[in-house]
Amino acid sequence: MKALLPLFVAGLATVGAASIGAAELNRDVHARDVHSYAEPDKVLTEHIHLDLDVDFAAKQLRGSATLSLKRIASGYDQLVLDTRALTISKVETAAANAPFQATTFTLDKADPILGSALRILLPADAKSVKISYASGPNASGLQWLTPAQTAGKKQPFMFSQAQAIHARSFIPLQDSPQVRVTYSAVVRTPKDLRAVMSADFDATAPAVITGTSREYRFKMPQAIPSYLIAIAAGDLAFKPMSARTGVWAEPVTLDAAVKEFSDTESMIVATEKLYGPYAWGRYDLLILPPSFPFGGMENPRLSFITPTVIAGDKSLVSLIAHELAHSWSGNLVTNATWRDLWLNEGFTTYVENRIMEELYGRDRAIMEQALGRHDLLEDFAKVEEKERILTPDISGRDPDDVFSRIPYDKGAALLFYLEDKFGRNKFDDFVKGYFAAYKFKTLTTEDFVTYVDKELIKKYPRAIKPAKLKEWIYQPGLPDDASQPQSPAFAAVDEQLAAFVTGKKAAATLQTQKWTTHEWLRFLNGLPDKPTLAQMQALDRAFKLSQNGNNEIVHVWLRAAIRSDYKVAFPRLEQYLISIGRRKLVIPLYKLLAQTPANKTWAIEIFKKAEPGYHPLTIGSAKKELMMQQEN
Ligand code: BES
Ligand code: ZN
Repeated sequence: MKALLPLFVAGLATVGAASIGAAELNRDVHARDVHSYAEPDKVLTEHIHLDLDVDFAAKQLRGSATLSLKRIASGYDQLVLDTRALTISKVETAAANAPFQATTFTLDKADPILGSALRILLPADAKSVKISYASGPNASGLQWLTPAQTAGKKQPFMFSQAQAIHARSFIPLQDSPQVRVTYSAVVRTPKDLRAVMSADFDATAPAVITGTSREYRFKMPQAIPSYLIAIAAGDLAFKPMSARTGVWAEPVTLDAAVKEFSDTESMIVATEKLYGPYAWGRYDLLILPPSFPFGGMENPRLSFITPTVIAGDKSLVSLIAHELAHSWSGNLVTNATWRDLWLNEGFTTYVENRIMEELYGRDRAIMEQALGRHDLLEDFAKVEEKERILTPDISGRDPDDVFSRIPYDKGAALLFYLEDKFGRNKFDDFVKGYFAAYKFKTLTTEDFVTYVDKELIKKYPRAIKPAKLKEWIYQPGLPDDASQPQSPAFAAVDEQLAAFVTGKKAAATLQTQKWTTHEWLRFLNGLPDKPTLAQMQALDRAFKLSQNGNNEIVHVWLRAAIRSDYKVAFPRLEQYLISIGRRKLVIPLYKLLAQTPANKTWAIEIFKKAEPGYHPLTIGSAKKELMMQQEN
């Protein structure tokens, strides 16, 4: 995609935004989105209308997408859209208030990462283009589940995951975060199912029944980037939690989810107090089957959530704080390219922690910061030094393959550092002002640097030097003076851990009675690289860790079990890998198993059993760890 003016594009797609200035015309090279073929500097999509059938038998979304266009450059007769493995049956264009007429189009040869550019001949007066299409049965952005793969076991389930560049596998569109669109949709499902989308819709309205299908209507009045378009269909029920929040889930999961996430409304109130009004109307949660490849996805008005965080004690609800925080950082203020992902995820991780502090207190917030720091250092160690920066060069690479904790926890660490240096009051005002200044816009890291320079560094020059900000962003690792999260609770855990590891204290005598999930994670993270079998046995006997029901605790425990070859835990490991498809929880386990030939052979067998329940993303990552053949 050509370099594009984020302010400009956002201005066209939203009401009352700023006009174009000379400064913005001179965009820096980093605004170029190398992960899209679209040319929004020529023709820009403003609205998308979808008319789709959800066909479980064919594993296809089928119907049409009608794009309303705005011409940016005159005399240009081509519209380029992103697609991946779509079957295009017909393309038509229409002038204002005129009927659709067929036009010609070509589909380029597929690039393994980017998919195929769809080139449409655009008559000079064309105002909209209608593409009749079907998604491929292995669409990278969709997962089709059989009834057996759901919680209720009775109905099939389908969901999308568009971030980063998968929207193009189920909608032909300009698939770049720099193009914001409003959208509307008519979706037909088999008659016992319900469709939901990241849009406004009436949860209580009875669906229109047409023959054997049901029809649902959606409308997204706020302009959003393509990666936030989302759809799911299944046996879904709804329960409200407050006037503007509620849970969509399979009926068997609904009550547990409502109980677990009952603090959602308080989280919104806390975030609004810090950063200004929630911009999206409703905030609902959709609980997906366990194969959902992420913890959560911030689809506007309807965050998609893994069921693996329903622990029974709200210990993992920082995930909700995180997805909610994206309603400000990410969904309102959006990264211009996937190189700038840290602007979405680092800010969100920071805001998430502020929400956790407001709701559950400073001790828990600091513990979560410290756990994040541990994960960051672990991920630093996995990549080359030059990759330990906030702006990796990802041209020619699949954004899914670059995924790590670096944009999250290094990004957040930079913001905690700035908070420290400028003081919380000034920094809170800054962040609130940043969200207000860039709402419904996109920005690059370089735009951010300019903004911080103007709004913080120049205003309060004694706090930090401009070079410091650049060091954080462009230099590998953490600066020497990065703030360290200091948790007294964790210091106490570390003492117990040291006593246990050195044999001074037996497992059964450790003082763990008051430990929360966080303290257990700290303890288990700190176990030696290869705990002895005696140590593993003693811990398991004293604390029944193999039988623990908290998926995060079990994850860290199983990692230790693989490293020490504690085979007693392997049946649990097998059951875990088969029942969960969340990438973060299963991939590190496959990675460790792949380190010995015997475990690797075993892991491949388990993977084959688990594969039908995994999302394409998880399958791809697991095969890579197990060095199995990838099909494209
Ligand atoms: N937006 C992300 C998920 C994502 C990022 C998908 C990049 C594709 C590309 C989501 O908000 C997220 O960060 N999820 C985390 C949650 C966690 C950090 C609380 C996850 O899934 O682990
Ligand atoms: Zn996120």
